[in-house]
Amino acid sequence: MSGDPARFLNSFAQALAAMALYKVGHPARERALDAAYQQIQDLQADTARPLFTFLGDEVVFGRLPLRELKAWDWGKRLAQAGIQRLEFEDKVSREEFEGFLEEVLARLTLSVISTEARQMRRSSIRFGAVGLKGETELAAEPLPTATISFSLGEEVDTLRWLQKEVQTGGAVPLAEAEAVVRSLAVAMHSGRQVILPLLQLKDFDQYTTTHSMNVAVLSMALAEFLGLAAADVRGFGIAGLLHDIGKIKIPLEVLTKPGRLTDEERALMNEHPAAGARILLDVEQDLDLAVVVAYEHHIMINGGGYPALHYARDCHQASKLVHVCDVYDALRTKRPYRDAWSFEKTIAYLDERNGLEFDPEMCTVFVRMMKQWEGQVTVLSDTATPIAASPAAQTNQPRV
Ligand SMILES: [Fe+2]
Ligand SMILES: [Fe+2]
Repeated sequence: MSGDPARFLNSFAQALAAMALYKVGHPARERALDAAYQQIQDLQADTARPLFTFLGDEVVFGRLPLRELKAWDWGKRLAQAGIQRLEFEDKVSREEFEGFLEEVLARLTLSVISTEARQMRRSSIRFGAVGLKGETELAAEPLPTATISFSLGEEVDTLRWLQKEVQTGGAVPLAEAEAVVRSLAVAMHSGRQVILPLLQLKDFDQYTTTHSMNVAVLSMALAEFLGLAAADVRGFGIAGLLHDIGKIKIPLEVLTKPGRLTDEERALMNEHPAAGARILLDVEQDLDLAVVVAYEHHIMINGGGYPALHYARDCHQASKLVHVCDVYDALRTKRPYRDAWSFEKTIAYLDERNGLEFDPEMCTVFVRMMKQWEGQVTVLSDTATPIAASPAAQTNQPRV
């Protein structure tokens, strides 16, 4: 079969998408990789050194613009990830091809790639930014993680999409939730010390998305601070990311209402933990931890909060952990009905409610972590919502 550059790029993108979704060895992933590998071999049968250039909307093969790929958004995404040029100098092995795709994917999603995959990749596939001096040699080297910059833009888009899916009656796409969490974990470890990439709210309407990302980051940070293993840390990240998924059923007018909620609105709001747990129970895969956390994250240690417990019982450790992170992020964020609280004021509140609302151990460790890691918080997105230090009316229990 003769090679076709557009067909190759489409199969290349499909392989990247499959790799983002499925683990090594999964048949869907292997199939997509095989198909793309076949396409590059077909292409190389006609063209010795296929060269692609990605320039904004334009995809160029050699010197030929590929008009059929005008609406292909991967070109833009690749260019934005610093891959503006892609050249296959020589025949490549299947392993090499896969290793290369993993690296592209890592650039696109900040996914973790194994060192073996990096070492396996030899230099016959070159990629990098157009016009960069010594570009190919330099760019083909694996980048030290510390230099990878991130905006979490893709992760936010993915989470927003995920929430829309659930809103329109779909099941929770767990693979995407996991990809977001993995990506957040990589971003947290992209420096020499742990960093806490926290998003600043741009738009009140987007609160649940921004807040869920932040609670995922804080939950993973606290789990890590407590010494949990990486896989468990990610489990807490998933639970943090999905803790408020039940809110997608609440109308935006209620979520962003500046004034006091009516009794009906309050009742609706208080249903989100049970609604979230139900949504997560519908997912076929094992999401027990996230289900429990969605259900319990507003239950206080003194029995207060909601949903009301029929008999006094202890909540799961993960729920207690997410609860502290949840309240911290909520208070630190400007809402339609109150200003953002300062770091000091928020910490003082947590201390004051330690043992009443919050589990003493979780709360104490969280406060210690935040004091220790305060300097490692990276606030992302230059938004018009500054974190104001102005005091809000002192009430015993702020609306979070
Ligand atoms: Fe909540
Ligand atoms: Fe929350």
